[in-house]
Amino acid sequence: MDPPLGLPPLYADPSEAPSAELIALGRRLFFDRRLSRAGTMSCGMCHIPEQGFTSNELRTPVGTGGASLRRNAPSLFNVAYRKSLFHDGREPFLETQPVNVFLEPREFALPSAGAVVERVRSLPEYAGAFERIFGGPATLDRIGAALAAYERTLLSAGSPFDRWYYGGEEDALDEAAKRGFALFTGRAGCARCHLVGPKWALFSDGGFHNTGAGYREAPPEKVRVQLAPGVFTEMERKVVESVGEPAEPDLGRHEVTRDPADLRRFATPSLRNVALTAPYMHDGSLSTLEEVVRFYDRGGGDDPAKDPLLRPLGLSEREIADLVAFLRSLTGDDVDALIGEARSSPPDG
Ligand code: HEC
Ligand code: HEC
Repeated sequence: MDPPLGLPPLYADPSEAPSAELIALGRRLFFDRRLSRAGTMSCGMCHIPEQGFTSNELRTPVGTGGASLRRNAPSLFNVAYRKSLFHDGREPFLETQPVNVFLEPREFALPSAGAVVERVRSLPEYAGAFERIFGGPATLDRIGAALAAYERTLLSAGSPFDRWYYGGEEDALDEAAKRGFALFTGRAGCARCHLVGPKWALFSDGGFHNTGAGYREAPPEKVRVQLAPGVFTEMERKVVESVGEPAEPDLGRHEVTRDPADLRRFATPSLRNVALTAPYMHDGSLSTLEEVVRFYDRGGGDDPAKDPLLRPLGLSEREIADLVAFLRSLTGDDVDALIGEARSSPPDG
């Protein structure tokens, strides 16, 4: 199983690749809403195949009970290559990542990890499937393995950029996108974090950086509250703030490591299929690719702790358009096939 043009091999030995049966089981689970507590939510409802395996309409997806999630849903295209998962990198494995979803009150809202196992075992559509594949019944590990096996099939490349750069097809890319690529790897400095290699490109260094995206100064801890005409008191901001508003600012990687150097650093995303995965950044605060390029042109956000690599670029209007044209050339030629495959599973098992 060769990866598409522009991506590195995924398995050192082809025998490591998951079986078609395991992948089909994972796909079924991925789109099965009955795994969630209320039977209303599946993985595929936030990672929507037709929307770049993310949600295009919302900066941060709405979860169970109508409460917004804290962060933008990452695309699952090429998730197999990620060194760590989530915007803060707190999860190392695709196999264990679903447990976060099962237990999160705004996602599957299950009371325990075992509850998902019990549920899968009770659904007739899965009867015998785990036994055939694993030689035993559904367990948490096996459910995780199946979901991971499906997610690892979401490889997407072979884009116009790949056909030009790695495939030697001179006409695959138009002149604007070629100029954009020269800026991306040259003066604009993008490729220092969004890496492009000699044989393939993941467009990520697998690291964490503070771009200043979504930065807002922390509100004061105490606020003045009027109790009666002419009578004021100081109160904790948290107590006063209306419920529903995110009270705590997102500290990114710092929340995982507690290292001050990691303050508001977020994982460098891959830029493959980026034209399909709006809105952008960990909080979905930028809506279009042009907005993202203008953001970098200003030198990123206002965060005093932002990465020193980000400086105002002084791009012309044409250069901005060229960079956008390059980003648009990163859409894989296999996207429709992956959507079709995703929808080949009957919804809800
Ligand atoms: C309610 C929306 C929602 C549902 C349902 C959901 N996700 Fe996500 N997913 C998210 C958000 C938001 C993030 C980013 C969270 C963060 O960084 O803290 C995420 C992150 C991920 C990541 C990490 C990707 C990366 O590049 O870092 C994976 C993998 C993933 N989800 C898979 C799944 C699977 C498998 C399921 C079902 C078991 C699922 N998701 C259900 C919203 C959702
Ligand atoms: C210092 C490292 C660094 C440099 C340099 C850099 N980026 Fe990024 N880029 C990141 C990180 C980290 C994020 C994610 C930020 C977040 O989630 O808030 C990101 C996000 C993006 C996104 C949004 C992707 C998504 O799925 O949300 C785009 C598009 C992008 N960068 C393009 C560029 C371009 C174009 C340049 C050059 C002008 C550039 N980047 C320079 C680190 C960098």
